Amino acid sequence: MNPAEQVVLVGGGHAAAAFVNSVRRAGYTGRLTLIGDEPVLPYHRPPLSKKYLAEGLPVEQILIRAPAWYGEQQVQLRLGAHVGRIDRAAQRVELDGGERVAYDRLVLATGARPRRLPAAVGGELPGVLQMRHLADADALAPYLRAGQRLVVVGGGYIGLEAAAVAATQGLQVTLVEAAPRILQRVAAAPTADFFRALHGAHGVRLIEGVAPVRLWADGGRAAGVELADGRRLPADVVLVGIGVEPDVGLAAEAGLAVDNGIAVDAFGQTSDPAILAAGDCTSFVYRGRRVRLESVQNANEQGAVAAHTVAGQPKAYAPLPWFWSDQYDCKLQIAGLNLGHDDALLRPGQTERSRSVWYYQGETLLAVDAINDAAAYVSAKKLLELGRSVPKAAVRDPGASFKDWLG
Ligand code: APR
Repeated sequence: MNPAEQVVLVGGGHAAAAFVNSVRRAGYTGRLTLIGDEPVLPYHRPPLSKKYLAEGLPVEQILIRAPAWYGEQQVQLRLGAHVGRIDRAAQRVELDGGERVAYDRLVLATGARPRRLPAAVGGELPGVLQMRHLADADALAPYLRAGQRLVVVGGGYIGLEAAAVAATQGLQVTLVEAAPRILQRVAAAPTADFFRALHGAHGVRLIEGVAPVRLWADGGRAAGVELADGRRLPADVVLVGIGVEPDVGLAAEAGLAVDNGIAVDAFGQTSDPAILAAGDCTSFVYRGRRVRLESVQNANEQGAVAAHTVAGQPKAYAPLPWFWSDQYDCKLQIAGLNLGHDDALLRPGQTERSRSVWYYQGETLLAVDAINDAAAYVSAKKLLELGRSVPKAAVRDPGASFKDWLG
């Protein structure tokens, strides 16, 4: 290895932090520069819509690594700096302002950006917030006071988690989901049914199957959301959680292969051998399909995969995807990826508040949503790791044990 070799990382999220950790642990001694446009060290993103928002934690408590760690790892940090262009021929990146940084290997960990409602319907008005970055959570925090009216647009995990925090703080919360039901993209009906009832019990008004058509303003600020059926929902603040788009601008402009994300192979390589990518910005082949995962697990593991490639110790990525969501005092844990399922079975848990939803394609188990049911989650994870499927009849029978398949 040439110690003068320079690796440039673009992005400052989970994938970037994981890359730094793994590349140094693998013994890589080349120079490392991390360029991130947020003016803050890499932090844990999930708490933004959960504990950070609910408890107003100081930012130090959600940093992935303490500030001193970056010095120990000999990483040059360029925070608050934005890369505007990749010059592949010259192997350098160009920062806004004109500075150029040369690379031998470039790692793109640019993440994803929240989709916005179009400006033409009021999506860019002051008072319309999103939830992805630290600055977004900080912008919402001042509104978290009893009696404030919050309208959440989008019933995915981001919208539901933020609605839970706000309802707990005494806000009047209305959540509007354009699709026929919440969690349509990511979960089957029994999981959505549980969370609908949970939010209802906490006083959140859930409106499903009606699209918001425009936001109106009062005094230059968003003052409410008008729905397709003519209903008007007045708001002090609007939070939009309608999904994310992978941040592929730099890669696409540089001519790298992009296919619902920067296309990488199992080693994190893009279509340019000098450039790797990791995290939410990538797509890769999982069980024969090109997929893009939006998860901490994926960011951490792909960051490590890219690091091993750079360190000359390639390890193919073979993930078992997992996710989680916390809402009120309920914990959802998801093992596997339900993409392509043709059946979803509800399995009652040990208590009234626990249950799990088992996703199958044919007789093959793909994924499990475990709600307040750590035992189901642990079994599911183990089964998926072993590549085994419990017969559906056993899943449906709450008394059936899975030990025959786990042993
Ligand atoms: N109006 C209302 N709802 C909409 C609209 C719209 N114009 N457009 C989309 N939606 C709904 C979708 O039907 C979907 O249910 O918004 C929801 C968005 O859900 P997701 O795509 O899952 O995205 P989101 O909840 O924003 O989460 C983004 O952050 O925490 C992570 O796991 C999360 O990776 C995901 C990302």
